[in-house]
Amino acid sequence: MSQPPKPDKSATARPLATESDWKKLWPSAQPGKSEPLLKALHILTRDGALNADSRRKLTQVLHLTQLLRPAIEAMLAEKDDPVLADLGAGKSYLGFILYDLIIGPAGKGRVVGVEARDKLVETSRALATQAGFERMEFMAAPIAEAVLPGGHADMVTALHACDTATDDAIRFALRHEAKHIALVPCCQAEVARLLDGHQGPMRQLWRHPIQRREFGAHLTNVIRGLVLEAQGYKVRVTEFTGLEHTMKNELILAERHQRSNAQARGELDRLIDQIGVKPALLDVMA
Ligand SMILES: C[S@@+](CC[C@H](N)C(=O)[O-])C[C@H]1O[C@@H](n2cnc3c(N)ncnc32)[C@H](O)[C@@H]1O
Repeated sequence: MSQPPKPDKSATARPLATESDWKKLWPSAQPGKSEPLLKALHILTRDGALNADSRRKLTQVLHLTQLLRPAIEAMLAEKDDPVLADLGAGKSYLGFILYDLIIGPAGKGRVVGVEARDKLVETSRALATQAGFERMEFMAAPIAEAVLPGGHADMVTALHACDTATDDAIRFALRHEAKHIALVPCCQAEVARLLDGHQGPMRQLWRHPIQRREFGAHLTNVIRGLVLEAQGYKVRVTEFTGLEHTMKNELILAERHQRSNAQARGELDRLIDQIGVKPALLDVMA
């Protein structure tokens, strides 16, 4: 089986784009206003250039921003103070860019970044203060334990939240009754581990370690999609950006339109019966 191409990191340190190039990527009439933020996030160098790594990151985040824009604008139109929770926020590139391009100019709505690493949260808080992003907050906590003030979030995003942190993001979205969810899963190991040595009529699908890893990651995302459907979400699974930008390229978009979906629940149960392994995420179906 041929492998997809790996992103070429050889030119990482070399600025790829001039100042005017990044401005072509930036979907705003006044890109200059965002330049200090992008420099503070180290997406741009001090000279205003973009290297290969930051171009990849910026391309991913801007692509997700454009995909989420209609749902965020609908939320802003419907609600006085919609809350977007970005989980496993890391350096909060996504939160800062969503705030800079959409939430900030709207004059209402909040972005809450949830991140387990204290140091990253401190840095993001300082940057939000420096940028004057008053409706941006950060919580230093594992996603599994995080509860927002008011216990509600309108939209949940999790971009490359590691392994089962994406499942924690799904549980978070359910307990905060989020209408919109956007997940770009990261590496996944739990299901591959469960499949290791597991017998059954389909065992050839996961016999070899590399296929077990890939099939395990694929099955995990299929189960995530079905769990969300069974919980009443309409689910769309698409390519995130090109493989040249990231190898973790599956985007799961979900919008809730009913409390539950018995047909999807049936499909999920049948799949689990056929494969015979039960990832921990199924606890939300109890
Ligand atoms: C690969 S990084 C992605 C960061 C960011 N979303 C982005 O795309 O730039 C994953 C981040 O999730 C955080 N993380 C992983 N598991 C977590 C958990 N269970 N709770 C909170 N944060 C978590 C890590 O500390 C890390 O900063």
